Amino acid sequence: MSDLIQIVYVSRSTFPVMPAERGIEPSVARILAQSRINNPRRGLVGALYFGDGCFFQCLEGRAADVDRLYAALLDDPRHTDLKVLSRRPIERTGFASWSMKYVPLDAPMRALLAERGLSTFDPYRFDEATVARVLALLRDGGDVMLPLEAAAPRQERLDADNGRALRMARLSIALASLALLASAAALVLAW
Ligand SMILES: Cc1cc2nc3c(=O)[nH]c(=O)nc-3n(C[C@H](O)[C@H](O)[C@H](O)COP(=O)(O)O)c2cc1C
Repeated sequence: MSDLIQIVYVSRSTFPVMPAERGIEPSVARILAQSRINNPRRGLVGALYFGDGCFFQCLEGRAADVDRLYAALLDDPRHTDLKVLSRRPIERTGFASWSMKYVPLDAPMRALLAERGLSTFDPYRFDEATVARVLALLRDGGDVMLPLEAAAPRQERLDADNGRALRMARLSIALASLALLASAAALVLAW
């Protein structure tokens, strides 16, 4: 029998929340970056959603590892009012490819909330069926890269730009050398 479990918990952020249109919250981005470094080392995977000042996180892995992280989460001052919505054994992880998947689910989440008669993302009021629906949305939604991760392909573009600049500099030096040689030859001929 496998020792894998899944925990879903919710919490409230303690940091001030900026308007959603300004992209991913810097505090949430820091938590994600930290999770994406730590979780692979701890054999953990999962998904995180942040909306209207509330976190909804699913953590999967070996029971001892998940429980250890949850104990650390209880002490994290960036959120409060942690409430476990479900804790169950699983056969395999549902988020196997994601150390911590982050999905901005604005339209589908709003639709789900409206269907459940909720005007804001208030996961404390979610019933079991709604938790399952949110998990399915997180599983099917597209992951979001952090600004630094997204910058990686740009580095390749920068390398290409640098290569082009280097070739131009070499050409300029070759042309300048030619011009110098031509002037020297002209001087010799004149002399
Ligand atoms: C909402 C929320 C979710 C978090 N999720 C994770 C996580 O998935 N993995 C993780 O290592 N830390 C996570 N953290 C941070 C932990 O509470 C804790 O600060 C971190 O594990 C300590 O990492 P360190 O040992 O590298 O200092 C989260 C924090 C918050 C507020």
